[in-house]
Amino acid sequence: MAVVGAGISKFGAFADKTSRDLLVEAFQSMRGSVDRGFDPREIEALYVGNFNSELFENQGHSAPVMADWLGLTPRPATRIENACASGGAALRQGILAIASGLYDLVLVGGVEKMTGLPIEQATSVLATAGDAQYEIPAGFTFPGLYAAMATAYAAQHNLPLERLQRLLAEIAIKNHENGALNENAQFGKTIAEVMEKAREKAIMNGSRPPGWESVYDFLADMRANPVIASPLRLFDCSPISDGAAVVLLAAEDRARAFSKNPIRIIGSGQASDGALHGRSSLTSIQSARAAAREAYEMAQISPRDVKLAEVHDCFTIAEAIAGEDLGFFAQGEGIRAAQEGITNRDGRLPLNTSGGLKAKGHPVGASGVGQVVEVWKQMRCEAGARQAARDIDLALTHNVGGTGQTCLVHIFER
Ligand code: COA
Repeated sequence: MAVVGAGISKFGAFADKTSRDLLVEAFQSMRGSVDRGFDPREIEALYVGNFNSELFENQGHSAPVMADWLGLTPRPATRIENACASGGAALRQGILAIASGLYDLVLVGGVEKMTGLPIEQATSVLATAGDAQYEIPAGFTFPGLYAAMATAYAAQHNLPLERLQRLLAEIAIKNHENGALNENAQFGKTIAEVMEKAREKAIMNGSRPPGWESVYDFLADMRANPVIASPLRLFDCSPISDGAAVVLLAAEDRARAFSKNPIRIIGSGQASDGALHGRSSLTSIQSARAAAREAYEMAQISPRDVKLAEVHDCFTIAEAIAGEDLGFFAQGEGIRAAQEGITNRDGRLPLNTSGGLKAKGHPVGASGVGQVVEVWKQMRCEAGARQAARDIDLALTHNVGGTGQTCLVHIFER
């Protein structure tokens, strides 16, 4: 089967938009991407990834609401909840629905509206994706859980914390540079531009101009880049976001009726694991390894064949670990890839050309589908200024729920 259309809303903080508005925005953007057009009445089912509309928006039973706003009723609409992997899991359900032979044309969406709550409450809602019995009562938040993984990674690979932070900063710098070229990203600025803006603000306020000589000085400055959960700082975190993404899936024999250049899905893997507190390793996500294995086997490819990937960088350390779990880099090497330029847009393996969750934004239920939108654009050479330098005929998405209790990996071919 194939992706025959893909669209995304603007990601950010939108006081005047609900999640249904955002999904409609993404749907309208997707409609424009279907080369040969389609009649929405042809869509046979909707699967929508959403983590927590109950606590974020006081709206349960959200899938039929979405179907109604998209004009799809009475088609079946089902919400899929797998924390931050809800979007990837919805994609998998769409794939299975077509593979079963039941449907030929399925809409997969992902959406989250997070910024309606103050940060303390948003953090508590996100924490419900952790283990309510063993992790959250101990004081863990998601930045805290990933900080534990970062600390363990530094210990395992003999990295002093300052060295770890510098390598993580390289991932943030790369992803903000990519995000600055993405018109839908939450952060439309490079870190160098954020730094200059902060300098101008200080001067306007009559303060002594900060003495930053480079982005590294800026990121090392506790006031500019405060610690959120040591060793992770502000620029290591994905933000709190609102946003939506959708993709239109068609059965293999129908794909060309909709698209001149469909993107085939040739591998799908999903796996689960216990929560972080019970794992033997904090520096590798077993569900990611298992999901990747399944997807590679289905696609009959190896990690070396992948030309570009959108990976789940909810925190910078997560991108380093993802690169290792997916088999792109040896253990301990994932963290150096950004510094070495390997994962830049013009590198051997561009990672997160969209800006990733870090800079594009992370409306959690939407992120897994948003990754597919980027792969769609890159594979069709429609990514504009952030188009990867090499031809992308094989790409991968990696979407993690929680700290890896869920992981989905999908492989795409042009
Ligand atoms: N990266 C970079 N800059 C960020 C940012 C981020 N993640 N989050 C906020 N900012 C910036 C804002 O743009 C703002 O800049 P400005 O003053 O120039 O306008 C400034 O920092 C303050 O923003 P604010 O919204 O007040 O930040 P906050 O303190 O409420 O939230 C975090 C910051 C890091 C706590 C929040 O983004 C967070 O919780 N992130 C993690 C989300 C998460 O856990 N997701 C699930 C992952 S599994």
